[in-house]
Amino acid sequence: MEIKERGNWGSQFGFIAAAAGSAVGLGNIWKFPYITGRYGGAAFVLVYLLFVILVCVPIMNSELLVGRKSGKNALGAFKVLAPKSSWWIVGLMGIIAGFVILSYYSVIAGWATAYIFKSGAYMAAGANPADVFVAFITSPATPIIWHAIFMLMCIGVVSAGIEKGIEKYSKILMPTLVLILLVLIIRSVTLPGSGAGLAFYLKPDFSKLSAEGILAALGQAFFSLSLGMGCMITYGSYLKKDQDIPVNSYWIAGADTGIAFLAGLAIFPAVFAFGLEPGAGPGLTFITVPAVFASMGAIGHLFGILFFFLLTIAALTSAISLLEVVCAYFIDEVKWNRKKAVWIMGIFIFLLGIPSSLGQGVWSSYKFIGGRDFLDSLDFIASNILLPLGGFLLCIFIGWYWGTDKAIEEGNIGAKGAITLGGGYRFLIKYVAPIAIFIVFLKSIGVF
Ligand code: PFF
Repeated sequence: MEIKERGNWGSQFGFIAAAAGSAVGLGNIWKFPYITGRYGGAAFVLVYLLFVILVCVPIMNSELLVGRKSGKNALGAFKVLAPKSSWWIVGLMGIIAGFVILSYYSVIAGWATAYIFKSGAYMAAGANPADVFVAFITSPATPIIWHAIFMLMCIGVVSAGIEKGIEKYSKILMPTLVLILLVLIIRSVTLPGSGAGLAFYLKPDFSKLSAEGILAALGQAFFSLSLGMGCMITYGSYLKKDQDIPVNSYWIAGADTGIAFLAGLAIFPAVFAFGLEPGAGPGLTFITVPAVFASMGAIGHLFGILFFFLLTIAALTSAISLLEVVCAYFIDEVKWNRKKAVWIMGIFIFLLGIPSSLGQGVWSSYKFIGGRDFLDSLDFIASNILLPLGGFLLCIFIGWYWGTDKAIEEGNIGAKGAITLGGGYRFLIKYVAPIAIFIVFLKSIGVF
C-alpha cells in the first residue's frame, strides 16, 4: 500500500537508474567544474575522490540499508529504528535541506531548459556566449518563468508517482548524455591552447587548496551523490530484500563520479583555449559549452541543443528525488495525499527560488555568507553544512547507536557476494568518516 503510494522500482535496474538519476545531475555537469575551477583544479579533484571513497560510499550503503530496513521516509526511518529518541531530527534536517536545495536547483535547471531553445539561436547569431548568458540570468522575469516551467515538470512527474517511464527513459538518456560528453571532450582537447586546461585539471598543486576548498570538496561529494539528506533512505525504502546494496552503492558512486570527471574534462581544456576564467563561477558551463559547440559549425548547433536537453533531463531526475524526499514525509507522517503534498510543497519551493534568481540581476547587490549572493549562500549552507552534518550524524547513528552489526546484517541481505559489508565498512563508518567530517568542519571554522 505504502510502497504504491510513494512509487515503486520495478526491477533492480530500475532502482539503479533512479538512484543514479538522482545522483547524476547539475551537480556533476554544472557544479563540479565550476567548484573545481573556483578552488584550484586538480588538488581539489583528488581530495574530492578521497571523500567519495572513504566517506560517501559507506554513507551511501548506510542510507540505503536504513531505508530498506525501515521502509520509511527520511524522518520516519529514524522513528522506526530508534523509537522514543530524538534521532528523527536528523531526518527533519534532511527534509529541510531537500526543500532548500530544490529551490535554487530549479533556478539553474530552468537556465538549462531555456538553453535548449536559446543556445542554438545565439550561436547562429555569432553572439559572445558570456554576454548572452549574463544578459539572460540578470533579466528579472525570464529566468523565473523558466524556473516555474521546470518546477511544473517536476510537480507533474512526482504527483503522478514515480512511473516506469522515468526508469525506461533513464536507460536511454543517461548513456546518450555520456556520449555527448565524449564528443565535447574530443572537441575540447583538440582546441589550440587546451593543454593548459588539462594541466589545471589533472596536475595537482596543493598550495592552491584552502580549508574552504576542502570543505567545498566534502560538500560537493555529498551533494553530487545525493547524500546526507535522506534521499537514499527514501529511495532505499523501495528496495526489495533480494537487491544487492553494496554492489549498487559502488555502481551509483562510480557512475556519478565518472560523469563528473568527464564533465571537467570537457570544460577545462575549452576554458583555457578560449581564454576564459576557470574560477568564473556558476556560469562556467553555460558559457563554455556553447562556445565549444559554436566552434564546430552547423553540427555544433545540433549538439548544443541535445546537450542542454540531456542536462535538463539529468536535472529533472535529480529534482524529482529532492521533491520526493520532502513529499514522502508529508504523505507518510502528515497523511496528506500525494497530489496535495506535491503541489503545496512545489509552490513553496518555487517561491523560495525567486530570490535566488533575482540575486543574479536586480538584487545582485544583496550579499550574504562571505559575500555570496542568495543562491550561492543557500548552496553553501545546504551543501557544505547541512549535508555533511546529516552524514556525520548518520555515521554516529549507525556506528554508535543502532549498531554496525545490525547494519551489516541488513546491508548484506541480497548481496550476491561480489562485495559485502564487513570490517572495512565498520571501520569507515565508525571512525574514518565521522572523524574526517569533524576535522573538515573544525578546519573550515579556523580551529587549527
Ligand atoms: N545529486 C544531485 C546532483 O548532483 O545534481 C543533486 C541532489 C539530488 C542532491 C538529490 C541531493 C539530493 F538528495
